[in-house]
Amino acid sequence: MKKLFNLLVLALLLTGCTLISSENNKNDANGNFKPLTTKSPERPPGQKDVLGLTAPKIETVRVGFIGLGQRGPRAVSRFTHIPGVEIVALCDLHADRVEKTQKILEKAGLPAAAEYSGSEESWKELCQRDDIDLVYITTDWKRHASMMIYAMEQGKHTACEVPAAMTMEEIWDVIDTAEKTQKHCMQLENCVYDFFELTTLNMAQKGVFGEVLYVEGAYIHHLEDIWDRFESDWRLEYNKNHRGDIYATHGMGPVCQLLDIHRGDKMNYLVAMDSKPVSIHNYIKNVRGEDPGDFKNGQHTMTMIKTEKGKTIHIQHDVASPRPYSRMYQLTGTKGFANKYPVQGYALESSQIDSDVAPNHEELNQHSFLSEEVMKALMEKYKHPIHKELEEKAKKVGGHGGMDFIMDSRLIYCLQNGLPLDMDVYDLAEWTCLAPLTALSLENNSAPVEIPDFTRGGWNKTKGYRHAFVE
Ligand SMILES: NC(=O)c1ccc[n+]([C@@H]2O[C@H](COP(=O)([O-])OP(=O)(O)OC[C@H]3O[C@@H](n4cnc5c(N)ncnc54)[C@H](O)[C@@H]3O)[C@@H](O)[C@H]2O)c1
Repeated sequence: MKKLFNLLVLALLLTGCTLISSENNKNDANGNFKPLTTKSPERPPGQKDVLGLTAPKIETVRVGFIGLGQRGPRAVSRFTHIPGVEIVALCDLHADRVEKTQKILEKAGLPAAAEYSGSEESWKELCQRDDIDLVYITTDWKRHASMMIYAMEQGKHTACEVPAAMTMEEIWDVIDTAEKTQKHCMQLENCVYDFFELTTLNMAQKGVFGEVLYVEGAYIHHLEDIWDRFESDWRLEYNKNHRGDIYATHGMGPVCQLLDIHRGDKMNYLVAMDSKPVSIHNYIKNVRGEDPGDFKNGQHTMTMIKTEKGKTIHIQHDVASPRPYSRMYQLTGTKGFANKYPVQGYALESSQIDSDVAPNHEELNQHSFLSEEVMKALMEKYKHPIHKELEEKAKKVGGHGGMDFIMDSRLIYCLQNGLPLDMDVYDLAEWTCLAPLTALSLENNSAPVEIPDFTRGGWNKTKGYRHAFVE
């Protein structure tokens, strides 16, 4: 009787398994639920990866800027403070924006730059010039990828504002062009240079937190007061038409560096969930008096990511709710914890605190943050070499408290010295792929979605994320 019962149970289990695998095809050979996948094109023959890419040294980096709205002129202004740079050309759709930016050069005592404007395609002429080394792009999201690709095809290195690509097709095209041309292709993610983030990265790399297992990042920024400021309303339009975490790089950048993504670990899959859109929909209807139509972007989007080495990442996006600005930035390791928003602080096992930082560290309470005094001492002790070099000037020049100037200075330093850039095209791909892949997850009841290995097999070649310096 018992034998018959066991056989029956086995038969039921087998039928169940068959149903899941044959009808939905959602299980792999081991019976595990299979993530949804996107097309990962093979590397074309003759093309090689750009891991650790270096290019010949450029003594004076000649730069052309495309996009002179809110962000562009500030970048031009910062570049006037970087030695060994020549601002060769300026481009925007609108001639008056180019004129206004010329005034920045004039004020800095620099020669006027060549001007491009008036047509949707004028930027191509800028890219075709043979006296430009770097094309710096600060236009809206939809134009980024095609501009980077064209610039590289014209033999230029390129740097582009965030997010530098919005779809999987764009991401793969940018990667293929960077590999084909062997040109630098950097996404201008400034938050990786912020003071708390870079100091904490240095601490993590020196083992202060033990093994880092869980990290958080976010873009939480109530944009209601600034929706009207963007050219042709591109930013609101993008939110209106796209579900998913469409602005993930400020959260992703610092945490991916902490986890050595494609330098020893890789992201395997993600799962996303969003709450229904309310506030921006209401803003369009009540404040603008327009029809919000089918507004797509969720009020709050959450994404969870699992890595090959068993680590987890939590990313959030909310540009709709009346919340204080936050990029979360949190790290939990086996021996310590770091948190930036809303309270900046560290908690560490006493064994991790050196006596030069806190003489009485054995008595520290491990259930709360270390005191402000100890935090300051830790931050001083672990100040990153990049901050030691640039902090003072960065705080004077400014740009989100200095991190923008540090980003630009590092880009130029690496180009001048023929070093690999701090962020490569695979970082660009990994940090921007959340836009298309979270949308896919959301459209499928939060199903897991595979994150491709954008290095196509090279994610474990480099061991650990490191900034390059002249030896
Ligand atoms: N990293 C940061 O902290 C940060 C902060 C703000 C903005 N951004 C990013 O910077 C980028 C630009 O944002 P913004 O606020 O300056 O937008 P914006 O709308 O103010 O400016 C975009 C500019 O691009 C120009 N443009 C559009 N199409 C063009 C074309 N075909 N040729 C030449 N110029 C063209 C527009 O005329 C406009 O002047 C976005 O990607 C945004 O996300 C990043």
